[in-house]
Amino acid sequence: MCMCVYIAVEPPPEGSGWSQLELAAVILVPSCLVCVGVILGMCAIQNLQCNHIKAHKQDPEEPLDDQALVSTDKCLKELIYDMNTSGSGSGLPLLVQRTIARTIVLQESIGKGRFGEVWRGKWSGEDVAVKIFSSRDERSWFREAEIYQTIMLRHENILGFIAADNKDNGSWTQLWLVSEYHEHGSLFDYLNRYTVSVEGMIVLALSIASGIAHLHMEIIGTQGKPAIAHRDIKSKNILVKKNGTAVIADLGLAVKHDSNTNNIDIPINHRVGTKRYMAPEILDDSVNMSSFESFKRADIYSMGLVFWELAHRCSIQGALLC
Ligand SMILES: Nc1ncnc2c1ncn2[C@@H]1O[C@H](COP(=O)(O)OP(=O)(O)OP(=O)(O)O)[C@@H](O)[C@H]1O
Ligand SMILES: *[C@@H]1O[C@H](CO)[C@@H](O)[C@H](O)[C@H]1NC(C)=O
Ligand SMILES: *[C@@H]1O[C@H](CO)[C@@H](O)[C@H](O)[C@H]1NC(C)=O
Ligand SMILES: *[C@@H]1O[C@H](CO)[C@@H](O)[C@H](O)[C@H]1NC(C)=O
Ligand SMILES: *[C@@H]1O[C@H](CO)[C@@H](O)[C@H](O)[C@H]1NC(C)=O
Ligand SMILES: [Mg+2]
Repeated sequence: MCMCVYIAVEPPPEGSGWSQLELAAVILVPSCLVCVGVILGMCAIQNLQCNHIKAHKQDPEEPLDDQALVSTDKCLKELIYDMNTSGSGSGLPLLVQRTIARTIVLQESIGKGRFGEVWRGKWSGEDVAVKIFSSRDERSWFREAEIYQTIMLRHENILGFIAADNKDNGSWTQLWLVSEYHEHGSLFDYLNRYTVSVEGMIVLALSIASGIAHLHMEIIGTQGKPAIAHRDIKSKNILVKKNGTAVIADLGLAVKHDSNTNNIDIPINHRVGTKRYMAPEILDDSVNMSSFESFKRADIYSMGLVFWELAHRCSIQGALLC
């Protein structure tokens, strides 16, 4: 544009029959047309490129946002803490859970329970625990994932849930539950291997009680949590963290209580707890199943037995207390 103007103000050659105005018009009009044409052309090209990128983004094979979230060098702790602020406070988005689960490399089998096998796996350099259910136990898998994703359930004394995923290879469905890995394993294994000091025993007992108290507690509000009873408290379902505190695991049998409707959602799969730890009123079936209080009381009874196991392995100066 500047060039056009510059040319236009040059003095006209002698003897031409055109006035200055005519000359300017003859030069300016075509060159402006050329400029406009070039600008339009550039816009068109840019538009094409944009559309191309958009089309690429909407490719269903590539969940771009999801990939971006997981491939950032965030570690699991940060991912899990993030979702508290960004999401519903109940768990990672499903696509992120799936992406995490599908990039785990299984390392070794660490245990077998009634429902599935537990493996240690690696996810971007960090250890995770993977509980694998067979397709027969889909209900148990679904129930446990559902309970772990109860809003506001997260607590330092409840096993940190990471992801649930169902992988289907055509003939077989593998159901995964991914959680934090605790190398000491269950309290049962820990007490078989080590004795605990009085201080160690108190720390363990206090953290077990805090975990159960958080489960039992109802939080009222939009970011609230229903009261939950565990129904399978035992030393095999409690894991020991590195620093000697404990977390409650295995929520597959838990029941939630809705205080508005006074409704208790007993899971459809009638998997019973462990007889050894059951309260007498549950064993002789005299418990009032329509009162949530009775489920909480039964949990406390089982916790008492766990405390007894703990005390049994407590030693002072090399001698066991009892
Ligand atoms: N997050 C974890 N970190 C480390 N070890 C784990 C973890 N989860 C489970 N384990 C180990 O795997 C074992 C099996 O666990 P699982 O819950 O499947 O069965 P269980 O508790 O032994 O029996 P049940 O089916 O009666 O609950 C546990 O005893 C524990 O040693
Ligand atoms: C979740 O967020 C709330 C407020 O944003 C905070 O008080 C709470 O400690 C957070 N909990 C976790 C587990 O990050
Ligand atoms: C699916 O996985 C199961 C168990 O891992 C395996 O036995 C089976 O052969 C697999 N089927 C196909 C079609 O890949
Ligand atoms: C154990 O570690 C957790 C974090 O994982 C921390 O919050 C807690 O205070 C620690 N407890 C003790 C007794 O060191
Ligand atoms: C059982 O509990 C419910 C709810 O608390 C109560 O209404 C009912 O009377 C109880 N039944 C018996 C037999 O105690
Ligand atoms: Mg268990």
